[in-house]
Amino acid sequence: MVKLFEKGLPEKAVLRKLESKLKQDFTYSSGRILGSMCTRPHEFARYVHMKCLEKNLGDPGLFCAATQLEQEAIGMLGSLLSHPKAYGHIVSGGTEANILALWAARNLAKNKRHEVVAPVSAHCSLDKAANLLGLKLIKVKLNDRFQMDIKEAEKTVTEKTVAIVGVAGTTGLGAVDPIHELSEIALAHGLYFHVDAAFGGFVLPFLEELGFNVPDFDFRVPGVCSVTVDPHKMGLAPIPAGGILFRNEEMMRSISTSVPYLAGGGTDHTTILGTRSGASAITVWGLLMHLGRQGYRGVVGRCMRLTSKLVEGIRQINGISLKTIPTLNIVGITSNELDIELVAGELRRMGWAVSLFSSYIRVVVMPHVRLSHIEHFLEDLKGTVEKLGG
Ligand SMILES: Cc1ncc(COP(=O)(O)O)c(C=O)c1O
Repeated sequence: MVKLFEKGLPEKAVLRKLESKLKQDFTYSSGRILGSMCTRPHEFARYVHMKCLEKNLGDPGLFCAATQLEQEAIGMLGSLLSHPKAYGHIVSGGTEANILALWAARNLAKNKRHEVVAPVSAHCSLDKAANLLGLKLIKVKLNDRFQMDIKEAEKTVTEKTVAIVGVAGTTGLGAVDPIHELSEIALAHGLYFHVDAAFGGFVLPFLEELGFNVPDFDFRVPGVCSVTVDPHKMGLAPIPAGGILFRNEEMMRSISTSVPYLAGGGTDHTTILGTRSGASAITVWGLLMHLGRQGYRGVVGRCMRLTSKLVEGIRQINGISLKTIPTLNIVGITSNELDIELVAGELRRMGWAVSLFSSYIRVVVMPHVRLSHIEHFLEDLKGTVEKLGG
């Protein structure tokens, strides 16, 4: 147990303690983190973030410039997602963004309906959102391409449904739900339709520009009311930086709370947090300005090339296989012969931070991953599979 000292320690002594404590943590630069959707923030982002630590977007009257920069960042994200006039905020992450979307859906329906239809592959933040908001999440099974099954979704929609959620880049396998078809169902029933593109939102537009065949998933699809897109995943921004974009102001205003007492003058909040990081939003602005489409295309192209290397390597190891052909830089490794949990356990013992889902290991080829890391991982994976008798 650590007690608060009466007299503080000199900075140097604190930093020495800190360095020694932090040694226990994984680092992105080691290349060992292969199961996270976060990455090492861009160098320029670190610099911008440090400059803006005191900015509080909860009090926009005091920080007008920061507030304007947040709105410019939302405009740039909106233009990435085919709606430069979108309304929204840079928030704490995908979880907050998904909560805000369902909060808006519930309020717009005036609490008359309470069921949310989402795929079983939806991120657990939607369970949290439903729980907080008194909604019931109804999970729809997937088709053989790990997307929400449209026929099942259609059957699941009833007069109790308040919203449909589709995922563009599922957490497990990076699958993209059939957003057009879901939009049609939502429009036909007058339902709110949210797209969780927390991960895919910073990948799919650039894949399209790189010539990949990418289905529409954003505001181009007419029924889409809001989109989650997280700069602290493939956007290279420091944590916390999520994004929520609404199609129109009315949707965003539906979750508004008046805050009269602020030093900068009364305002309305349309986020969960009150005091919130201006540094995060300004850093997203700085990164989008600095990297532009070309910069992000480069990042995504490199991750996809390494993903192909990983896929080729997995195909050459007897005893394991791909869960599905990857759409994004997310790879699922499975086995018909081996207990995949044992494989994951062995890899973790060897120092690889991979994710384990119920029937597969997930590797996310993030920007911090290098070719040498993939080669090393494949060697250890092969060794593990052979040791376990594959
Ligand atoms: C599709 C999706 N949505 C939402 C989230 C939640 O994001 P966060 O952890 O930033 O709250 C994740 C996290 O991995 C995700 O994959």
